[in-house]
Formats: sequence, C-alpha cells, structure tokens
Amino acid sequence: MPQLQFSQVTKQYGEVVALDRVSFELQDGELLVLVGPSGCGKSTALRLIAGLEPLQAGTITIDGVELTDLPPKDRDIAMVFQNYALYPHMTVQQNLGFALKMQKTPTAEIASRVQETAMALEIASLLDRKPGQLSGGQKQRVAVGRAMIRNPAVFLFDEPLSNLDAKLRVTLRDELARLHQSLNATILYVTHDQVEALTLGDRIAVMKDGQIQQIGTPQHIYNEPVNTFVATFIGNPAMNLIPPDLLKLSLEANRVGIRPEHLELSSPDKATLTGKVLARMNTGADSFVTAEFQGHTLTTRTPADLIFNVGETIHLTCQHDKLHLFDADGVRITQG
Ligand SMILES: Nc1ncnc2c1ncn2[C@@H]1O[C@H](COP(=O)(O)OP(=O)(O)OP(=O)(O)O)[C@@H](O)[C@H]1O
Ligand SMILES: [Mg+2]
Repeated sequence: MPQLQFSQVTKQYGEVVALDRVSFELQDGELLVLVGPSGCGKSTALRLIAGLEPLQAGTITIDGVELTDLPPKDRDIAMVFQNYALYPHMTVQQNLGFALKMQKTPTAEIASRVQETAMALEIASLLDRKPGQLSGGQKQRVAVGRAMIRNPAVFLFDEPLSNLDAKLRVTLRDELARLHQSLNATILYVTHDQVEALTLGDRIAVMKDGQIQQIGTPQHIYNEPVNTFVATFIGNPAMNLIPPDLLKLSLEANRVGIRPEHLELSSPDKATLTGKVLARMNTGADSFVTAEFQGHTLTTRTPADLIFNVGETIHLTCQHDKLHLFDADGVRITQG
C-alpha cells in the first residue's frame, strides 16, 4: 500500500482550475518531486494534503486512511515552507520543541529529542538564538528540524531552498538528500527548478496547468519525455526542437528533438548541419555553443577548450539513435 495516495483530485478557485484530476502516489521512504512552472498547481497539491484547503473532487489517503474529514492537526504530516514560517519570538529550541509541547510530550523527552534533532542538523550551537539572529541557511535547517522532530508519516516541502544563494542551495540540497536516505523519510517535494528535481527525486512528476504530464524516474523522464513540454522543461540547456527536413531526414514526425550533448562537431564534408555561431556559454567543464542553421537556433555542447567566436562557421552531425520524435500535437512518437 502506498504511504500517500492522491487520486483524481480536482481543485478550483472560482474559474481557475488549479488541479485537474491529478493522481500520484508515494511509496514508503520515497522522495517524489512535483516540478513545473509557476502557477501549475504544485503548492495547491501540498495545501490540500496538509488540510489547509478543501478539494472539489477526488480523494487523498495516508496509510489507507482518507484525509477529507481529518482536521489539519490530526493529519500525520509535517510541512516545510519556502519562507520557513518560524515563530519569531521563540528560540530555536522552542521552535523545534513546539509541536511536541502541543502534543503534551513530557518535558524531558522534548529536551532529548530537540537535542538529537539539533545534532543531526548541526544546529546544536544555535539553540538559544531567535530566528532573527540566524542566516537563511540556518533558518532553513531549523524549519527542517521542526518537521523532522515530529517523525511524520509524510514530509511536505514547498520550495525549501529557493530563498538561498546558489552555493548554499546546492549544499543544503545534498544534505536533504542524505537526510532522506538516513531517515528513510517519505517526502513530497515541490520545486520549479528542474535541476533540483533531477538530483533529489527518486521519481519526478512534471506538471503543467494543473495536470501531470509525466511521472517517472529522473533518467526515464530525461531519456523518454512524453511530449515537447517535458522534453524542453527538463534538461539545461533545453532540448533542441527542429523540423526533420533540417537534418535531411524523411521521418513521420512533425518535430525532432535532440539534446545539446547529442550534437557533435564534425568536419565540413561529413556535416549534416552547417551554421553560424550566435553565442557561447562557458560552464567551466563544457562550453555550450548556440548557432543558427537555416533560420533555426540549436545549442550544442563542445569541449571548453575549443573556442568558437560569434559569426564563425560551425559543422555538426547528430547521433541518430538519440533523436526524439514528436507529432503535430507535440506528443512523443514511439520508435521501433
Ligand atoms: N487562494 C487562491 N485564490 C485564487 N486562485 C488561487 C489561489 N491560490 C492559488 N490560486 C491559483 O491556482 C493556480 C495554482 O497555484 P499554486 O500556488 O498551486 O501554483 P504553484 O505551482 O505552487 O506556483 P509557484 O511556483 O509560483 O509557487 C494558480 O493559477 C494560482 O493563481
Ligand atoms: Mg508554489
């Protein structure tokens, strides 16, 4: 039995359909990422599970128990918000222990669990401070600790890293991944950042306009996107989409997708594509070159030590077994 089951859930705000018959499930100990652009319904899904709002149709269960009539405090979940939502007048110690105090846990047990949680998150030296005296990363750890200490059936994370600078975001992302493994926690994690989704998720659900487009492992979604939306949303730089005749191929496809790493530099005589360099982006290990080919812009990955200047001619071939074919509606055509 899945730990959390979200079945055919619909949520409307007046005319706005925030979730349209959305279904997914989380297995025990799994980290599922909901990823999609702003406004696609990610936070709405979490708010419904937390019981902060009612839904119009569908069911949500945790451990087989229907949540619909359970008040938020009786749902065995803990939510970590983007803005952390710490109590500003309480110390870190009090913030961490608050939920246990509300449950009338004995004082000595609260103290030992606060200590244990603070050690695990390396914030034991901050217990007497108030949130106003903490950095963004430290607040984030306290917010995670406040959820962890309750040992809930399911953790809900709503963009917990998006207020942090880029370097800290990567550090805390790795810490969350480790924490997930060591606690064997069941986590539903929301982000609009596809890199975060690919690196953290056991599985990913890609959403758009209140609907799930595809659910699968990061590898599966990257290698076999079901449509052009998923194909271009997951992966950075995005997959190139071009008409098949640009590659001199006669294919039963409306558009062909090819990832930057599957376009290769070639000699002029072997090239399928010859174009003019528009821009170059160096990432250190690689360089991504964007060039124009008969009115179409494509990006390719090249070794960082090969310098291409704007305006220069570039010759490419592509790996034919790495092509993604899409029909006129943008739906993947299964090959073979
Ligand atoms: N209280 C509300 N009243 C009316 N519309 C709402 C309300 N809350 C959310 N919406 C709408 O529902 C849709 C989904 O919102 P939601 O907050 O779930 O998006 P999101 O995917 O979390 O986006 P973001 O990445 O920006 O946080 C949006 O179109 C939003 O404008
Ligand atoms: Mg949101």
